[in-house]
Amino acid sequence: MTTLKQSFLQGYVDKENYTVSRQVYVNDEIYRLEQERVFARVWLFIGHESQIQKPGDYFVSRMGEESVIMTRDRQGEIHMHRGMKVCRYDEGNTPVFTCPYHGWSYALNGSLVGVPYYKEAYHSELKKNEWGLVEVAQLCNYKGTIWATWDAKAPTFEEYLGDTKLYYDILVDSRDGSPGGSEAIGGVQKWRTGANWKSAAENACGDGYHNISHRSVDMVGIGPSGGKGRRDDETGGSRRLAISTPEFGHGALTGEQLDDYPWTPAYLNDPEVAEWAEHCYYERQRNLGKLARVLGGVGNIFPNMSYWSRQPRRMVVWHPGGGPQQSEYWSWFLVDKNAPDKVKEMLRHYGLRYSGPAGLTEQDDMENWNYASKASNGVIASRQPYNYQIGKGRFNKNDHLPGHVVEGMSEMNQFGMYSFWAELMDAESWDDLFEKRERREYEEGKA
Ligand SMILES: [Fe+2]
Repeated sequence: MTTLKQSFLQGYVDKENYTVSRQVYVNDEIYRLEQERVFARVWLFIGHESQIQKPGDYFVSRMGEESVIMTRDRQGEIHMHRGMKVCRYDEGNTPVFTCPYHGWSYALNGSLVGVPYYKEAYHSELKKNEWGLVEVAQLCNYKGTIWATWDAKAPTFEEYLGDTKLYYDILVDSRDGSPGGSEAIGGVQKWRTGANWKSAAENACGDGYHNISHRSVDMVGIGPSGGKGRRDDETGGSRRLAISTPEFGHGALTGEQLDDYPWTPAYLNDPEVAEWAEHCYYERQRNLGKLARVLGGVGNIFPNMSYWSRQPRRMVVWHPGGGPQQSEYWSWFLVDKNAPDKVKEMLRHYGLRYSGPAGLTEQDDMENWNYASKASNGVIASRQPYNYQIGKGRFNKNDHLPGHVVEGMSEMNQFGMYSFWAELMDAESWDDLFEKRERREYEEGKA
């Protein structure tokens, strides 16, 4: 029998007071339900197409707790199948996947092609076409980033991105503003922590209030600008913005330059790198016009894919890891495919020393998430919800930039993430979610 409250939107995410119950980070029942209602339903990030360039290439990824294989078949098409058992490596190239237990073999497109003792054991009666690997319901290659969902009724990926598209594009487009053109380099870093996946996702979704955590990194100035701090693109007069897409729980932190501004050399350590950065800077202004004023930042695509669209550009997936207080983090570095090798190498080194388990900033955050997760377990602590009131009532939907915009600091991004999470947890299906939302908005309008 369930011990959960009847409504997540009322019982765990309080829209009157902008608070979230600590139960959402530690409760086993909630964790199991969110595998079904969140992870089996929404769009999830799988990997980058540059990881599987040749036919037969594969990369073993995850969707929630499910293991999936991303492959490229002989026709060059990308497929996504459920099935860790048939592939025990992280990545590689193969003509066929074979289950190590009974030896069933599957082609790159997932169809069952080999069954040992087909005549003797099955009398040739097994319907092989019914027993292929389970394929995802929808797959999308968005500018080289591969996304999938198990739910055929989910909105298309571009609908799902919604107003956050402009900010996500800064990650996946080239530095000169031309569309796409990125590649993942240096493999995928993976590590485990003792925090709920939502603690990490909400941080990248919009926490601009935790800078004290990174005080030591700011003081040593590890960015490519040397002593000027972490940013590589900050040039003074800008609006600091928190931008939320609460319809689907996404959030981004960015900035917008107020006027056209001249190139400010940020890459001081190598003339070739500086020349490339300056070239990209002016090309970007030429390609994007006023939109070039929107700076790179950080964001989260609901539920668990976070991205840093300024250097070092990266994507991290915060996988739920077998229980509410276990997560596994996977991190990719992105560079422009056509950048000079020297630039890629410099950015790879910058990424390593700045981000990830061996870098200088990531441990600051992870330590806090682990503390917060553990502290959510206590009886006394669990009576106190988490407070998300910064920016309350300051949404501006009529800004010239898309999304719900708050100037300065805001926790409306994080609260939007939790509100959408609660809507999903309360809904039987996508249709049910939209129907309930419409009814709620109608009733709120009447009140
Ligand atoms: Fe941080």
